[in-house]
Amino acid sequence: MMKSEEIIAKLEKKLTKFDENPKVANVGTVEKVNDEVIVASGLSKAMMGEMVVFQDGTEGTILNLDEDSVSIILLAKSSKIKEGDTVKTTGKLLTINVSDEMLGRIINPIGKPLDGKAAPKKGKDMPLEKIAAGVVERKPVDTPVKTGIKAIDALIPVGRGQRELIIGDRGLGKTAIAIDTIINQREANKGGKRMLCVYVAIGQKQSTIAQVVEKLREMDALSYTVVVSASASDAASLLYLAPYAGVAIAEYFMEKGEDVLIVYDDLTKHAWAYRQLSLVLRRPAGREAYPGDIFYLHSRLLERAVKLNEENGGGSITALPVIETQADDLSAYIPTNVISITDGQIFLKSDLFNSGVRPAVDVGNSVSRVGGSAQTGAMKSVSGRIKLELAQYRELAVFAQFGSELDAATLQQLERGKRLTEVLKQPQYQPLTESMEILSIWAVTNGFTDDVPVEKIQKFEKELHAYARTHGKKVLETIANGKKVTPETAEELKKLVTAFKKVFS
Ligand SMILES: Nc1ncnc2c1ncn2[C@@H]1O[C@H](COP(=O)(O)OP(=O)(O)O)[C@@H](O)[C@H]1O
Ligand SMILES: [Mg+2]
Repeated sequence: MMKSEEIIAKLEKKLTKFDENPKVANVGTVEKVNDEVIVASGLSKAMMGEMVVFQDGTEGTILNLDEDSVSIILLAKSSKIKEGDTVKTTGKLLTINVSDEMLGRIINPIGKPLDGKAAPKKGKDMPLEKIAAGVVERKPVDTPVKTGIKAIDALIPVGRGQRELIIGDRGLGKTAIAIDTIINQREANKGGKRMLCVYVAIGQKQSTIAQVVEKLREMDALSYTVVVSASASDAASLLYLAPYAGVAIAEYFMEKGEDVLIVYDDLTKHAWAYRQLSLVLRRPAGREAYPGDIFYLHSRLLERAVKLNEENGGGSITALPVIETQADDLSAYIPTNVISITDGQIFLKSDLFNSGVRPAVDVGNSVSRVGGSAQTGAMKSVSGRIKLELAQYRELAVFAQFGSELDAATLQQLERGKRLTEVLKQPQYQPLTESMEILSIWAVTNGFTDDVPVEKIQKFEKELHAYARTHGKKVLETIANGKKVTPETAEELKKLVTAFKKVFS
């Protein structure tokens, strides 16, 4: 058996060779016809992701290269293909045609519109398979992706060009976080460099996708978003292709210097689709019956998230892959894979969700490895404090369950922790501007809510925001410029919150 490094080296060689010499084509023979996958021999020059044509005119693309055969997935249903038929390579990679008009549209992974409107105007053919930009073309993450979600922007900040995993059981708000982040770009796009979005729905129910699209439209977020959809009722081959179509679209915009956010919702179902396609071929199964190269598949996909340097246009792709776990289990095969590929994870937990902590982010087990360097100075000046206080609270809370006699200082920390937890709660579809996020966190970490009952914190926050909109415009603007909170600004904040507390009953 070949070692995985050797396989990778071989595949990469083939991909590069192909880029250099795109015209080689050869003819092979269909050996086996399964459901959606065809095995052919004789295509010795075939490349990963290359388009092939069968003698009946049906198109397919290379899914896998084996020692002396290749497997091909079909791009359209065909009942005519049979053993012994000929199949030809085309020398072309499978591409998707992308133009600016695609914004606001819903398409399937091969570019067919699903929104009942005409096909978008011809643009540029973007390959679904591509080797990610190399290190010399990249630059470190330095600009934030503002999600508008307090718990994330303060504690698990994401930077443009980063890969941040959203992981958790079904129904805990993974999609909600992704959609809120997309919605929040509407505000973020008003100042600074805009961010376009690609939402890739993989294996979801059609009705769920329709709801998401409707919400994006309602929130005015569809105009800067492309939705790529392969639903649960589509062929496994379409589910398999969906994330590559999505990233190809993202790359089109990134090449024009744009910042793009791409959501893969979710890669668990992508892995299922790939497993299904592979099992049809009776390829030897690996852990949890997934083919061994699923890791390489996902790492190649996520490697295409990038922040390009100025010489290369300065565009970026930020990826938010979603993974669904079973019973909070992070140690299953696909979760561990994707955790190790990404730059951090936002872990949602069912006990938090059920106890009303929503978004149900498990702060202790979530991490963002590179996003901190993209956080604004203003956010940094409040986030350091909340991180520390929450960590202390978590330790104390465990300890306090057993203890009876707690000293005053400990009690005070526990009370503070409860209020911090409370202020990090946030309803769906209500992303906040960074200055409002900072105002909330600043007020709690500086003790202004210590005398507010825990159950009133959310009301306090809401009314504080309304009050600040009319009475605190100046200080909000100061925070919004992103600079560190100075003692003078802190003084202004103090005045604002104190004045508000007089009217808050
Ligand atoms: N922050 C939130 N506050 C209140 N409800 C939420 C929040 N986030 C998600 N929900 C609700 O939780 C349910 C599951 O959310 P969803 O995003 O579909 O979960 P998942 O994608 O993890 O399966 C939905 O009914 C959604 O409205
Ligand atoms: Mg979901």
